[in-house]
Amino acid sequence: MMNMKRIIVASSILSADFAQLVSDISMMEKAGVDWIHIDVMDGHFVPNITIGPVVVEALRKITNLFFDIHLMITNPEKYWGNFQKAGANLITFHSEIQYDKRKLIENIKLSGAKVGVSIKPKTSVSEIRDLLPYVDLVLVMTVEPGFSGQSFMSDMIHKIKELRKIIDKNTYNCIIEVDGGINVQTAKICIKAGANVLVSGNYIFASNNPSKAVRSLTP
Ligand code: DX5
Ligand code: ZN
Repeated sequence: MMNMKRIIVASSILSADFAQLVSDISMMEKAGVDWIHIDVMDGHFVPNITIGPVVVEALRKITNLFFDIHLMITNPEKYWGNFQKAGANLITFHSEIQYDKRKLIENIKLSGAKVGVSIKPKTSVSEIRDLLPYVDLVLVMTVEPGFSGQSFMSDMIHKIKELRKIIDKNTYNCIIEVDGGINVQTAKICIKAGANVLVSGNYIFASNNPSKAVRSLTP
């Protein structure tokens, strides 16, 4: 999907000032982030409500950066199409949903968007093992989804390592993304374990030098 060698930095706009989204995104662009990570929450799958397709559509007009949409919603099958039309480049849904996941992957792929599947901290790799040949990306949550600014859960590292082994052994065309509590220290650990994409919200946005913060995450 992407150059596997280079680490991708995706900045999560959940940590942005929502009254200044345009300038915050342009700041991220200048800081050198590769992707914009957009956290979609429905108040049901997670205890928070955030961004819908109308916001994505508006933001699509102000940047050409890759939009990485993280759907933390109970019914992604009902809404992914609206995000795709709004300009999503990658649509990641959660493995804990009830809908037929093979069908969802197939449909998202047919739309031309990239597709990812995510696992919450309590979900094991075995739950998504069978989906790995079909997805472009697997997202390992390193915090309980719902809020930015939480601490990294180090016991998620073994899942990154396990996924890296399976993906390499079978030469699957799937990259590994990590999300939650990523900073200069935890980024290093995740890269060493085999992650390709680092989502970072609080660490980049709280920094007084975003370019430096972005650079500090990658080797
Ligand atoms: C958590 C979200 C994350 C979060 C990351 O539910 O999926 O993307 O915004 O923020 P930080 O980097 O602050 O943990
Ligand atoms: Zn996220």
